[in-house]
Amino acid sequence: MAPFVILIMCFISLAFVSYVHYASRQRRRGGHEKAAKLPPGSMGWPYIGETLQLYSQNPNVFFASRQKRYGEIFKTRLLGCPCVMLASPEAARFVLVTQSHLFKPTYPRSKERMIGPWALFFHQGDYHLRLRRLVQGPLGPYALRALVPDVEAAARSTLADWDGNVASTFHAMKRLSFDVGVATIFGGQLDERRKAELRQNYSVVEKGYNSFPNSFPGTLYYKAIQARRRLHGVLSEIMRERRARGELGSDLLGCLMQSRAPAGDGGAGALLTDEQVADNVIGVLFAAQDTTASALTWIVKYLHDNPKLLEAVGAEQAAIHHANHGGARPLTWAQTRSMALTHRVILESLRMASIISFTFREAVADVEYKGFLIPKGWKVMPLFRNIHHNADYFQDPHKFDPSRFEVSSPRPNTFMPFGNGVHACPGNELAKLEMLVLIHHLVTGYRWEIHGCSGDEVVEYSPFPVPKNGLLAKLRRDNSTAVSVDTDGSRNNNGVN
Ligand code: HEM
Ligand SMILES: *[C@@H]1O[C@H](CO)[C@@H](O)[C@H](O)[C@H]1NC(C)=O
Ligand SMILES: *[C@@H]1O[C@H](CO)[C@@H](O)[C@H](O)[C@H]1NC(C)=O
Repeated sequence: MAPFVILIMCFISLAFVSYVHYASRQRRRGGHEKAAKLPPGSMGWPYIGETLQLYSQNPNVFFASRQKRYGEIFKTRLLGCPCVMLASPEAARFVLVTQSHLFKPTYPRSKERMIGPWALFFHQGDYHLRLRRLVQGPLGPYALRALVPDVEAAARSTLADWDGNVASTFHAMKRLSFDVGVATIFGGQLDERRKAELRQNYSVVEKGYNSFPNSFPGTLYYKAIQARRRLHGVLSEIMRERRARGELGSDLLGCLMQSRAPAGDGGAGALLTDEQVADNVIGVLFAAQDTTASALTWIVKYLHDNPKLLEAVGAEQAAIHHANHGGARPLTWAQTRSMALTHRVILESLRMASIISFTFREAVADVEYKGFLIPKGWKVMPLFRNIHHNADYFQDPHKFDPSRFEVSSPRPNTFMPFGNGVHACPGNELAKLEMLVLIHHLVTGYRWEIHGCSGDEVVEYSPFPVPKNGLLAKLRRDNSTAVSVDTDGSRNNNGVN
């Protein structure tokens, strides 16, 4: 829970300042204009608000109980920060899509400093749009098609390293998502030494991201800032080499290096600075790694806990494995598009686990929603998980049931594992590709057992929810389930006929 606490704590100062502004503005208004009323809800104690209530219980219970009492929109205060929480698809759409210009992204300053202030997700408006268009190319279907061999190589080597050992699933999956992130950014042409330098320094940055922002020498935060500087150094060197070679490349780094702002009256627009490029490289790595790794960890758990489903997924994948001559031929993009059941398992895992449980925005003006006032400077939190777990939109919401995605697709704006609107995840297709490929090799080549307790109630926040200890599991090579499946669906033995 600690990183989650820190995340919230970092909002204190900013939130407090804006609250004081708000309070004085309210006084100036003197109540003579009949303003919309604040949403229902309890602000709790002065300053600390309802923070203790939030941390003395599961955050999901905190949100859900208030939703039950107050409805789709309610206010609270967390560590000095006045917040409006939104638990309906309409309200989430209002903030993220239709009125997104009134709600800006908001992160604690310390986190912005750690990732790099030029990373796209901190921005709004023209710069954000420009960066978004840029990253969408190398993360889009055309580029992903060419990335399948790299993703496959990373999945195979992750599983081979894990084979025979008890390890944290989350850690194994983090290595996979890092390698895939690196392949996307550097086009698979980065040498091992560089990759190791990036990996090591990045992991120091990450530890600092989740620690208390205290810049005294020796603290995790201080070390992280130093490591971030070294990361910038490594990235600058890579950029210098590419320029010297005269080949910038068509991978994500190359796209960032070549981009020009729209031409003004002064001729061709400016390139991004090296600092802007580096911040966005680190930003993408950051956005890609723990998210995908925790989703994969939940998938491994759900498959383990549902043996019938595992068997069905195994059969779907065995057919492809067989078509590829027992894995002798590489997976193709077309094959990854044909994994219908596996794809539904991924969607249902994203719904159940809702690893991005909510997001933050900040109102840039007083905004009215259905007669309620959201004051300027207040934080606004669309609660994705509450929507995903609401029986009005997902029948029997606590049941893991991939077939719900077969019967009908979710109603608009009710399924948002990748967010919605201008800041929705541009990496969602890459994340899904990674999951499809990993599942393919896992179920056709291995068996696994889970060590220690695996109850759903034991969840850690790292900062995304993962099963306790990252789900300790022992993997062993066993391709006996990968018996071939004839086109008529009947099984025969390893193609020996
Ligand atoms: C299962 C894995 C993933 C999940 C659940 C996920 C989820 C999300 C969500 C919910 C947002 C929106 C946050 C908000 O509105 O505040 C987001 C943004 C973003 N994601 Fe992902 N993501 C995943 C994987 C990835 C990957 C693999 C990449 C890149 C390779 C990526 C890159 C980004 C970026 C750059 C943004 C910021 C977009 C913007 O601000 O315009 N994500 N992600
Ligand atoms: C970080 O990067 C530097 C290069 O700037 C490298 O010498 C170092 O080994 C890397 N790893 C760590 C843990 O600092
Ligand atoms: C199983 O693995 C063994 C050794 O790695 C290999 O010889 C055999 O062809 C594989 N069988 C299938 C069905 O992939």
